[in-house]
Amino acid sequence: MSKQIIRPARTISGSLEVPGDKSISHRYAMLASLAEGPSEIAHFSAAADCRSTLDCFSRLGVKIDIEGDRVRIAGTGLGGLRKTRRTLDAGNSGSTMRMLAGILAGQDFKSTMDGDASLRRRPMRRIMDPLTQMGARIHSREGGFPPLKIDGTQLIPIEYVLPVASAQVKSAVLLAGMFTDGITSVTEPVRTRDHTELALAEFGARLDHEGRTIRIHGRPRLKGRSLAVPGDLSSAVFFLAAALLLPESNLVIHNVGLNPTRSAVLDVLGSMGAPISLVSIRSEHGELVGDVSVRHESIKGGSIDGDVIAQLIDELPAIAVLGPYTEQGIEIRNAAELRVKESDRIAVLAENLRRMGAKVEELPDGLRVAGRSAGRLHGAEIEPHGDHRMAMAFAVAALGAAGETVIHNAECAGVSYPEFFTTLERMVER
Ligand code: S3P
Repeated sequence: MSKQIIRPARTISGSLEVPGDKSISHRYAMLASLAEGPSEIAHFSAAADCRSTLDCFSRLGVKIDIEGDRVRIAGTGLGGLRKTRRTLDAGNSGSTMRMLAGILAGQDFKSTMDGDASLRRRPMRRIMDPLTQMGARIHSREGGFPPLKIDGTQLIPIEYVLPVASAQVKSAVLLAGMFTDGITSVTEPVRTRDHTELALAEFGARLDHEGRTIRIHGRPRLKGRSLAVPGDLSSAVFFLAAALLLPESNLVIHNVGLNPTRSAVLDVLGSMGAPISLVSIRSEHGELVGDVSVRHESIKGGSIDGDVIAQLIDELPAIAVLGPYTEQGIEIRNAAELRVKESDRIAVLAENLRRMGAKVEELPDGLRVAGRSAGRLHGAEIEPHGDHRMAMAFAVAALGAAGETVIHNAECAGVSYPEFFTTLERMVER
């Protein structure tokens, strides 16, 4: 188990790229596997989570070659996956398990999916319900937890109103919708990331949109493609946060995904006074991409609540650890979903922020972190509870603290960003 020692830094400057977006990489890998003909995906995410997706599809008979961050996939066509007796291992990845469940539900064979201790604690009822309505039989551990045994079948289309704002659940239903002979519709309570819709259209599926309802026409003929994945804004955000807490910082992050259903974090930080600017914005395969630059500025802080939460759910840890560096502190509400992520992120944020000397109030659906007047953070022993975003968030918080911080089990950062600590060390000055 690796420890990382983070010493305080003076500033962070320069330019960098971050690995390919994890959410988009999962989707391109899945659709390329189901497409007819070869696909080549450039700047594929380095995340262990996306490797889990590739491994599952290899197990299902798809030929996949990985060369650095380039992945070649020989698509089997919609009906070409092969039954495997082996358990499909989703590792730490909720996206792999939930979205792949939508695909496995439509196969004419049975499969089993499992994951690590964290994934075994994550709720799967939310995908089991709609997929069962579509005709699949899914067996889970008591309470709707993995492992999942999926008895695939010829699915029937449904009109599903999502009870939770979840892109993973929306995606599971849309992907399952491909294995029906009709039109499947999903209505979301608030808008969530739309990478699945964009990728499906890019690979040739037919979708219609009406307000917050998305309809997919069954049995599309997906065509193999050459694609490039934009950099992951959810990884980039740790560097933005570092620049906002270290004086005289000046950073440019190139080729970052700026999909409007993901970029709310930039608006929120901007409204708190962060000087963030976007240049060279372009569209690649339906996804917005651009360069993000940020300078140090002392930010005000404030409250984040309401529908925007769904659009910055993965960025909340980085925002929360900025709290003690702001004027007014940061309050996060309406974010109970954080409790069912890779860890209970509300509890783990509160626990570790307190270890660093922050004043924190834990709420059922969020937390309040006091601002600068509550005193400077000090170095501490951080326990990320196996959660990659906790390890990275506290490494950033530690840069501005007094004294050294030890991040225990820091290797968990590899779930989304294996090179995070080396890149951070390279970019900071002491
Ligand atoms: C993801 C959706 C979000 C997010 C997760 C990735 C996706 O989860 O937290 O990291 O790729 O669709 P939910 O859909 O469960 O909110």
